[in-house]
Amino acid sequence: MSLVAFPFKDEDPEVLLKNVRIAASHPRVREVLCVGFAEDECFKAVRREAPAIQRKAGVRVVVLLQERLGDRRPGKGDGMNTALKYFLEETDLERIHFYDADILSFSEEWITKAEEGADQGYQVVRHYFPRASTDAMITWFITRTGFALLWPKSVLPWIEQPLGGELLLTRSLAERLLADERVRRQSDWGIDTLYTFAMVQHGASIYETYIGVGKLHKLYGKLTDLKTMLIECFAAVQSLKEEQVPEGGAHRIEYPGPVPQEVREKIGYDIEGSLALLSEGWTPRQEELLACLPRKVWEGMLACRSFPRFGFMDEEVWYLTYQALLEHFSSQDEDWRELLFRLWLARTLQYTMSEALRGYDHALHYLHQMVGRYVRRAITR
Ligand code: LAC
Repeated sequence: MSLVAFPFKDEDPEVLLKNVRIAASHPRVREVLCVGFAEDECFKAVRREAPAIQRKAGVRVVVLLQERLGDRRPGKGDGMNTALKYFLEETDLERIHFYDADILSFSEEWITKAEEGADQGYQVVRHYFPRASTDAMITWFITRTGFALLWPKSVLPWIEQPLGGELLLTRSLAERLLADERVRRQSDWGIDTLYTFAMVQHGASIYETYIGVGKLHKLYGKLTDLKTMLIECFAAVQSLKEEQVPEGGAHRIEYPGPVPQEVREKIGYDIEGSLALLSEGWTPRQEELLACLPRKVWEGMLACRSFPRFGFMDEEVWYLTYQALLEHFSSQDEDWRELLFRLWLARTLQYTMSEALRGYDHALHYLHQMVGRYVRRAITR
């Protein structure tokens, strides 16, 4: 039997409570755990409502504040690791599911499909979804690009959605994850990267189950909304760059279904608002730091100080830029953080204007082919 965990931070309590009721009524679920970032209004509403849900569903519904387990910025990582710790220390259940708290399209099918994957013997089941062609820009240009450059012969580059917060872990793997000091320390947005990396390095069998309805949740305004996540996801990959990972590994991806028209037409971010960010916030030191990067990049980026440009940041230039960032970037240095954000922004805009504009199918085909080209290039490096 399973535990379902919802890490959350100032969400709409009605959305979270709806998802808690769905989980509590699922036949495979014995306990539902909500882990809050802080004792905010959402937390109090969920804690108030939990006993009634528990009585109605006949399963335990627990509401906890996350513990300070890591040493990075206190964030989603402490929330997920608090849930993992509770699962291992306070229950004898066999499986833990994680779901983000803000999913509007959540249903019992998500739990059922993960359980069916685990019933086939997989130690990890990850949900994946059809996503807008300009959504997942950290997944594609930070995580999957970094996995391809650093571990091209492993399964890591081929995991569809390595930053997904919807996944099932079996107890034996959960124990190995929480015992891994690198995972416990990762208290910020880097947690999804560390879970995915560690499960592959520990040799777990992985099944990715497809949820055709998509994960309807609030998307982003300007890409500044993603700045912290971007920096912490890149820093997580960079922190692992000297690690070795087994080649090959058991990884299956359920064949996807037709992409809903709503997803095909969705714009993932505010393009005009993001464009202006290329010219903002420059400092003399950031201009000096450009010297660590390929010539095309520092020429192109210096021109951004007066007018937003991004055409130079194509797939080839980004590969070279990413390698230089792995070597020189410092997550503690504000100028490097600002520069990394603008470099990624240029890559995202260049992709948006040169590939995403050509249509959904073209864009997704391009992104998948891009990962394959990076893998082949890294292997022959
Ligand atoms: C990603 C973040 C934006 O997957 O959800 O890139």
